[in-house]
Amino acid sequence: MKNVLQFVAISGSLRKGSYNTMALQAAQKLAPPSVVIQQLTIEGLPLYNFDLYSHQQPETAEKLSEAINESDAVIFVTPEYNYSIPGVLKNAIDFLSKHPLKPFDNKPVGIISASPGMLGGVRAQYHLRQIMVAVNAVVLNQPEVMIAQANTKFDGEGNLVDKNTKEFISKFILGLESLTNRIKIRDL
Ligand SMILES: Cc1cc2nc3c(=O)[nH]c(=O)nc-3n(C[C@H](O)[C@H](O)[C@H](O)COP(=O)(O)O)c2cc1C
Repeated sequence: MKNVLQFVAISGSLRKGSYNTMALQAAQKLAPPSVVIQQLTIEGLPLYNFDLYSHQQPETAEKLSEAINESDAVIFVTPEYNYSIPGVLKNAIDFLSKHPLKPFDNKPVGIISASPGMLGGVRAQYHLRQIMVAVNAVVLNQPEVMIAQANTKFDGEGNLVDKNTKEFISKFILGLESLTNRIKIRDL
């Protein structure tokens, strides 16, 4: 029997009613039986300050590092803010990058973005890919999932209702599953 992979997913938006968090929850529902996706939160992290956190990180950062370290893969679902990722997400990655566990090292990572705009957050995705180079993550190249006009793709209860987007997310999860299994075999 195939092992069930344990993915964790982080939304780069803290607001209630976030399209990105809705997309994350859609991914949880669309995951095949061979993948479980647990949502993590970056809420409550202070701003990174090397003077304060170089030896001991706050509990929220510790928990996040441990959960990512133990996971098989990470999914980021991020908005685009001013052509990049939101500061709250960059701040969280900065904490994680300085944690002794090095939770992203050789970790499979998949990226989804959602925006009410026409480009679906593509510029943020490419910035996030660049940041993932710094932490030595292994980012899934394709399929790329950019959810454009996100305000039209969910119903009033936050459920993803767009058929094409559902198909893209399903293929994306299968792609990340395959990448994760390939990396696991390489590490044996
Ligand atoms: C500070 C700020 C900057 C933004 N910059 C962009 C941008 O560069 N590109 C874009 O597509 N949308 C931009 N937006 C609009 C966001 O895509 C929109 O607010 C979206 O709903 C945020 O994601 P969420 O629904 O998951 O919170 C910006 C929003 C804010 C608050």
